[in-house]
Amino acid sequence: MKVFSTKELASSHLRNLKSRGFTIGLVPTMGALHKGHLSLIEKAKKDHDIVVVSIFVNPTQFDNAEDLKKYPRTLEEDLEKLKRIDCDLVFTPTSEEMYSKEEAAEMFDFEELDKEMEGKYRDNHFNGVGTIVKKLFEVIQPNSAFFGEKDFQQLQIIKTLVNITKQPVNIVGCPIHREEDGLAGSSRNRRLTIEQRKSAPFIYKTIAVAREMKEGHSSPQEINHWVENQFKNHPHLVLEYFTIAKEKNLKKTSCFLPKEQYRAFIAVFAGETRLIDNIAL
Ligand code: PAF
Repeated sequence: MKVFSTKELASSHLRNLKSRGFTIGLVPTMGALHKGHLSLIEKAKKDHDIVVVSIFVNPTQFDNAEDLKKYPRTLEEDLEKLKRIDCDLVFTPTSEEMYSKEEAAEMFDFEELDKEMEGKYRDNHFNGVGTIVKKLFEVIQPNSAFFGEKDFQQLQIIKTLVNITKQPVNIVGCPIHREEDGLAGSSRNRRLTIEQRKSAPFIYKTIAVAREMKEGHSSPQEINHWVENQFKNHPHLVLEYFTIAKEKNLKKTSCFLPKEQYRAFIAVFAGETRLIDNIAL
């Protein structure tokens, strides 16, 4: 397994492989790898000759310096895991390698997809994500890139990004990896206390009931009301938002139309740790 931390080394190595006909799958990550990431890598391995994983905690997508500082960084452990599953190349740049001094996030027109949910609560987050993903695609030039549906809004925005930037990368969305008790895999889960970890599967259980309610013909308002009540007075979890939205434009809905695809999205605080999840309805 090759580990490169400069753009030059990574791109010249990969250019060479591409010119020999090998296809490249990229799994962009911020490290602290968990089974969800490993499932993306397995999928990339099935589809491509060469699998590249990038590990970079991207400062421009954090609106909160404290959150950036506290983001788990476990490079040695991550490299061990990647070696074990036969990853071909790991790209581990520094901030200085990816950004010039005081460079800010590029501004994109994501056709309002970034104005909903996570975009409302995390200022400029998606411009930061778009900026780094665009840069990673320039360096790695992958045929495909793999993203988890846990960050469903991010996935839709990255599909829009490649349209805007005309980067020839196929964007592949992969199902959410869940622990046995339903909790969605996340690097942030390792920050949970024992009590918070025990409570956290409540998030998935709640949205799974929301799906059943939709099947039972409850309206979006009834489901919203029920979910909000579940979190009232919860000892460990505080609801930030619960939104039922159309999959295609992520706009909040007030009624269900027969031919439309909907998803329920949720963000919850367990202490200072923010957890998100979503489910197709
Ligand atoms: O999903 C993530 O881990 C990040 O947002 C990504 C796509 C690696 C960009 O920094």
